[in-house]
Amino acid sequence: MSTGFVIAIVVVAAVIFGAIVVLTTSRSTDVRGAGALSRETKSRDRKATISTGAPTGREVEAAARSTEVVKAAPVAVEPFVAPDEETLGVSRRMFFNRTIFTLMAASLGAFGASLVGFLWHGSSGGFGSKISAGKLEDVIQSIRANKGFYYMAEARAWVTEYPKDALGKGRAIYSKQTAVFAGMESGVIALYQKCPHLGCRVPECKSSQWFECPCHGSQYNRVGEKKGGPAPRGMDRFGVSISNGVLTIDTGSVFAGPAIGTNTTGQEAEGPHCVGAAGGHH
Ligand code: FES
Repeated sequence: MSTGFVIAIVVVAAVIFGAIVVLTTSRSTDVRGAGALSRETKSRDRKATISTGAPTGREVEAAARSTEVVKAAPVAVEPFVAPDEETLGVSRRMFFNRTIFTLMAASLGAFGASLVGFLWHGSSGGFGSKISAGKLEDVIQSIRANKGFYYMAEARAWVTEYPKDALGKGRAIYSKQTAVFAGMESGVIALYQKCPHLGCRVPECKSSQWFECPCHGSQYNRVGEKKGGPAPRGMDRFGVSISNGVLTIDTGSVFAGPAIGTNTTGQEAEGPHCVGAAGGHH
């Protein structure tokens, strides 16, 4: 393509572009934007007399100035009545105060009720209260029928016989524990099942006729006096009472077991041990 031909095309394009610009400009001058009125329309509007029948602004103003002020008829004024203090007093703050107080009272009431229920339950039965074991002679029969040991789950207690011929020695050790000694005089003793070492439940060993703790091997004779193992004393015991031939165990009064070395019955192991061998007195 020759340079002359390119120049000719550019010139033609410039002429066409210039023509478009000129035409567009002249058109916008004529119209003066959308919504513009032509000169003819404007002159027609000026000559026209428009009447809507409505009063003009000036007429309205003049009429307003000439209008007389009409006094309103007097109205009886309501006498002032002070608001009810009680009604006025129920302010938001008082409402919240009362709400908080009510909630606190309800909570305390519920707590008190549950506490009373708990204490009521505690006094009416279960561990921590006085539990009837039944007729003393029946209890002794049960001990013998169970080869020397009678277990009362509700009292968490073992009931065993205390030999009458050991009472002389026993008095010296246990007479200060009046409620315990009362049972011994009637031929029984109620031992707490909890090992005084670390609290395991101590089972009976029918072959040795001792109590032997499976946890660390503490051993006690049939009346709970320590015979071996790491326990710091003999088995703890409960106070009892006998009324009309009925034995009652007071699981709310636990007495500490006798000191290491106490041996009022002289009972030795009557057969093989269930847990290890007797470790002697510690
Ligand atoms: S808990 Fe019984 S010997 Fe340790």
